[in-house]
Amino acid sequence: MKSDKEDKHEEKRKLFERLFSEFKAIVAEGNTRDDTLASLCRLLKQRVPYYDWVGFYLVEAGNRLVLGPFEGEPTEHIRIEFGRGICGQAAERQKTILVQDVSTQSNYLSCSAAVKAEIVIPVFKHGILVAELDIDSHRLEPFAAEDREFLQRLCENLSVLF
Ligand code: SME
Repeated sequence: MKSDKEDKHEEKRKLFERLFSEFKAIVAEGNTRDDTLASLCRLLKQRVPYYDWVGFYLVEAGNRLVLGPFEGEPTEHIRIEFGRGICGQAAERQKTILVQDVSTQSNYLSCSAAVKAEIVIPVFKHGILVAELDIDSHRLEPFAAEDREFLQRLCENLSVLF
């Protein structure tokens, strides 16, 4: 018999497979980049219960991020210099950053006191950083390896929009 933990991982994998198919259908509609990104934010926020804020930051002038489409509470962090906060660090390192407990971070830009965890995934076009997907959760330690794999797969498939 499978343990509860194994069942949970299985459930996540199934949900992410379904969402990936829906994601491909959204991209195939051929809407503008920002409409497509906005639909993707809605899809993720509505269907993954612990994704409480889902948004894109776009690279501007090669050294800062500017807020693009998002779902969730408005944020004061419209522009973020590379290196600042989790988003800016992910941009500088050009790597996914997963923080299961934001209270452990000194270089962190808070959007809301309710946020407990965050994951930021870079989007590349021809090897150049063009955007980031940023997800905040109100739960502690909400992200599993499945989340990271799914979100990275999404972001790899977003290059076509840029
Ligand atoms: N927490 C982010 C800032 C962006 S908000 O989460 C929307 C950071 O530390 O970079």
